[in-house]
Amino acid sequence: MSPDDGPDARKQAAALAALDEVRSGMRLGLGTGSTAHRFLVGLGERLAAGTLREVAGVATSRATERTAREVGIPLIDLPADGVDLAVDGMDELDADLNAIKGLGGAALREKVVAEAAARFVLIGDEGKLVSRLGERSPLPVEVLAFGADRTAARLRALGFDPAVRGGPSEPFLTDNGNPVLDCTVPTEGDPFAWAEALDRIPGVLGHGLFLAMAHAAYVAHGAGDVRRTDRPGA
Ligand code: A5P
Repeated sequence: MSPDDGPDARKQAAALAALDEVRSGMRLGLGTGSTAHRFLVGLGERLAAGTLREVAGVATSRATERTAREVGIPLIDLPADGVDLAVDGMDELDADLNAIKGLGGAALREKVVAEAAARFVLIGDEGKLVSRLGERSPLPVEVLAFGADRTAARLRALGFDPAVRGGPSEPFLTDNGNPVLDCTVPTEGDPFAWAEALDRIPGVLGHGLFLAMAHAAYVAHGAGDVRRTDRPGA
């Protein structure tokens, strides 16, 4: 790969690096988004070639479910005892492997699956690296449509600036049928305090802060040089 191959090739490189963690017989959490898509395609190819066998995946979105079927990955519901490995993309990643996810609208299911994984691995290109979460990406917050104005007011009182994804007249709805508020994050405070505050708002069903969840991240830099970072103590 040359440096001109750009972010698409970097996404591909990160996805293929994570694919090397998959072993035959594993139950996998299958992420959502363009980077996770490349992981699914690569996994399908290894299953077709027979270099991997008896793998089953839990899809984190309808889009991922469709791709998994297309590329021949057997699907299962999330088992009560979880999965061996979940692999997913990210929208932002800080130096401690805390992430913002959910620009693809699947953060709630992604978090359920990530939390159920014995090992959770993020994949992406260097464009996702930030020194502070919320620096470039809004924070997606999935909310109950009932009382959404009240929920938005609660978010504003905490210093978030919420905007209805898709606009108020035609809101985007997640696979769970709920609207998403894309929030500019407060200028003060830290993501752990934000997450605690968000978790206390009844109308908030889920949010894209994935804090101290990832065990490792594969990030592709420059000409496709993939670096793995392990979260200390994970
Ligand atoms: C989906 O809801 C998101 O969490 C994605 O994982 C995230 O937006 C990364 O997507 P890309 O790989 O397309 O950048």
